[in-house]
Amino acid sequence: MRILFLGDVMGRSGRTAIAARLAALRAQWQVDFAVVNGENATGGAGLSADHARALLAAGADAVTLGDHAFDQKDMLAFCESEPRILRPLNYARGAPGRGARVFDVSGGRRILVAQVLGQVFMKRPFDDPFAAVDGVMKAAPLGGAVQAVLIDMHCEATSEKMAMGHWCDGRASVVVGTHTHVPTADATILPGGTAYQTDAGMCGDYLSIIGMDKAEPMRRFVTGMSKGRFEPARGAATLCGLVVETDDATGRAVSVAPVREGGTLQATRP
Ligand SMILES: [Fe+2]
Ligand SMILES: [Fe+2]
Repeated sequence: MRILFLGDVMGRSGRTAIAARLAALRAQWQVDFAVVNGENATGGAGLSADHARALLAAGADAVTLGDHAFDQKDMLAFCESEPRILRPLNYARGAPGRGARVFDVSGGRRILVAQVLGQVFMKRPFDDPFAAVDGVMKAAPLGGAVQAVLIDMHCEATSEKMAMGHWCDGRASVVVGTHTHVPTADATILPGGTAYQTDAGMCGDYLSIIGMDKAEPMRRFVTGMSKGRFEPARGAATLCGLVVETDDATGRAVSVAPVREGGTLQATRP
């Protein structure tokens, strides 16, 4: 199975690039299943129902969220009615929607997709992500109920993401990090067969400060004083993520390649 994962879509810049290019990239890279993180697609804060529909229409088979899952209030209801939206598995117990789901893929194959939030340096202490992931992987094991498993590990600390990669090694096809908005150069296949990258990077304008227009965050760093709101940067987006090919019999990764396409980052293609 060829799986494409794209990191946090940032504002209009990210949405425009997804709408313009995702369908063509899917065809070009022969993608069977595409997962897109949409937690910052609406003005940099959350994902509205309209923008979620647009990401799905552009070619995302599943859309994951993150700590900004419910910044847009209509997502509280929309994620209940749209099963292709996944919020973090270990969000508040009463949160609407779901954090994991088994999706059908062509050829009668199935993939488990789940998202969890880390605990280190995050604004709120969420439940144990390791136990949460363990539970869903046991319910839909590789080589049993599903041919592939993808875990989106949404957190700040590189150490916690690496721990999750090793925790899932041999039980997930892909563990990929999101949330920091900067791609890491460590795409690899772990010894047990899990494709891993600490952070996918964002789909947004990289001439920015993690996707935001430079002016206001720069002011706050340099002077300690805020003057206005953070606004997403508006330049051309680089789509960032990875393409993983898996063996349908075992669910293990056969190859992993980081992808960076368009915008200002140097291009890398599978
Ligand atoms: Fe986040
Ligand atoms: Fe994000």
